[in-house]
Amino acid sequence: MKKLLVLYYSRTGNTERMAKAIAEGAQSSGNVEVELNYHVNAESLSSYDAILIGSPTYHHDLPIDFKNLLEEAAVQGISLKGKIGGTFGSYGWSGEAPKLILEIMKYKFEMQVIEPPLLAKYVPDPSMLNACKELGKRVSESLMNRA
Ligand SMILES: Cc1cc2nc3c(=O)[nH]c(=O)nc-3n(C[C@H](O)[C@H](O)[C@H](O)COP(=O)(O)O)c2cc1C
Repeated sequence: MKKLLVLYYSRTGNTERMAKAIAEGAQSSGNVEVELNYHVNAESLSSYDAILIGSPTYHHDLPIDFKNLLEEAAVQGISLKGKIGGTFGSYGWSGEAPKLILEIMKYKFEMQVIEPPLLAKYVPDPSMLNACKELGKRVSESLMNRA
């Protein structure tokens, strides 16, 4: 069975709401193993077929945990080439973090990325949560269609 990781960081729960809706959408469409988590080891990244990372933006930057994770994966030479990648997150006014992570996925790890990132201003409203569910569904369906 194909595996999807929905990895997120959230201090005040906004990005977490998005992550849960994405995981729900992904689970609803069937035969994909969905893992919702806020911490994984770099070595484990290669075991997923798709990786969605949710990150709020604090101080125009991504959280240190994600910097460490992605640097560790790069240093260890972990190959994520061709895996589906996507990012999302809540923000207040600039929202750089999901864009920065998506760039790393695309240019460093050569993942097949879903552009643009899904961004919610502060608390995600019902239509944003719907868009999150749709994203989860879309990723899950493309995984099921892959050989
Ligand atoms: C100290 C602080 C710094 C922040 N810096 C930024 C920023 O640089 N750019 C931005 O778009 N939002 C910024 N925000 C807003 C957060 O991204 C926003 O509150 C978001 O909803 C937090 O998501 P979370 O609930 O998933 O942690 C900042 C918020 C705080 C409290």
